[in-house]
Amino acid sequence: MTPELSDLFTLLRFPSVSTDSAHNADTHACADWLMGKLQRIGLQPVLHETARHPVIVATNKHVAGRRTVLLYGHYDVQPDAPVAEWKSPPFEPTLRDGRIWCRGATDNKGQLMAHVCGLEKTLRDHGNLPVNLICLFEGEEEIGSPNLKPFLEAHRDMLKCDVVAISDTGMVAPGVGTFTYGLRGIACCEIIAHGPSTDLHSGIWGGAVMNPVTAVARLIATLHDDSGRVQVPGFYDAVRPLEGWEREAWSRLGDTAAETMAITGVPELFGESGFTELERRWARPTAEVNGFGGGWQGEGSKTVIAREAFAKFSFRLVPDQKPEAILQAVEQHLRAHTPPGIRLEVTLGHTGMPYLTDPFSPYGKAAQCALERTFGGTPALIREGGSIPIVQAFKDVLGVDTLLLGLALPDCQAHAPNENFPVANFEAGILLNQHLLRELAS
Ligand code: BES
Ligand code: MN
Repeated sequence: MTPELSDLFTLLRFPSVSTDSAHNADTHACADWLMGKLQRIGLQPVLHETARHPVIVATNKHVAGRRTVLLYGHYDVQPDAPVAEWKSPPFEPTLRDGRIWCRGATDNKGQLMAHVCGLEKTLRDHGNLPVNLICLFEGEEEIGSPNLKPFLEAHRDMLKCDVVAISDTGMVAPGVGTFTYGLRGIACCEIIAHGPSTDLHSGIWGGAVMNPVTAVARLIATLHDDSGRVQVPGFYDAVRPLEGWEREAWSRLGDTAAETMAITGVPELFGESGFTELERRWARPTAEVNGFGGGWQGEGSKTVIAREAFAKFSFRLVPDQKPEAILQAVEQHLRAHTPPGIRLEVTLGHTGMPYLTDPFSPYGKAAQCALERTFGGTPALIREGGSIPIVQAFKDVLGVDTLLLGLALPDCQAHAPNENFPVANFEAGILLNQHLLRELAS
């Protein structure tokens, strides 16, 4: 095993699940290890505590007149549930079929470590980097980066830079360099439908009271029409239409339906009519139910009307939708459709702005050039359906664009059981970092 891979394995073994406070110590230990690694390669890292998980800022010695590049990544990961579906333990990195299998392998530890190892190599070979560097690594991306935006605002001067680069997105296919120029935003909320003051015998009381599980099911059903179009009034008002060149560029990626069916395991695709599968995932907004429950979940039957039921929602947003406005429209819609006999509790959750940038800007071209040097061939220009909440904040607070140079493959299973990252992509990422800094320097 190479020393680079061995470092990645060490990073992967920390169960840095940011959403789960039971893992707070593991998440901090992960940050501490990363601090040590950055120190050992010759950078000056500083750990900043926040209300939750630490932010790491590491720099080289800055030289006046050189470009300043900020590299962002996140060391936190999603939960490993459902654990029984993993073929190898979720936090024990395992090599199989040329891939590393572990929670966080692709999202985002493998991609983050590729940058760190690229920096290490340049520093070892040349004793210096061609740019002024700021590494900004956080532990709260998977929970919406609640403390990072205030951190940017509080440390504008320290984080002043010319451009941001991130590897936390995907590639369209193995070996195809991919430049992502747009991300969807996100807005989350949860509802609890409160009904009777206690669970009730469904024979004695059924027929006389509204069932909270039924109420939540009805509310969920109001969100879409039969074709999947979101029914919240005003939802599409601010949606910016796709540009002609985008539709054309994406159509050149070919018909992705078969691949998507194979990866997702669905027998048929579903979604808003008038748009291709890629357009629906990358440039159209959605409403998703991420969780739904209430009532008896155990073996057999229990004839009960639960006193409450819940659902968790996330809305993926595109330019120029505003997360706060969407959540307000959603809350109003849900309240308007709440059946009688139910008190609806709505809790608004985290939000992140969508992002869109010009892939042909000077920095965009430099990034495309680095991709070409690394992978050969012309890079694919895409948007992605996922969200990285801090990216638009880099624009708003620091005034800079972000270059998204992803290394994940469509079947890397981010957030799912059996997350994985090809060793070849890790190695390409190490090379990409070296090309990127050189391209951005000139
Ligand atoms: N790396 C992903 C985002 C991503 C994945 C972008 C694939 C493009 C392609 C990131 O770590 C992520 O999962 N973000 C969350 C953010 C949310 C919890 C605020 C997401 O998109 O669900
Ligand atoms: Mn993620």
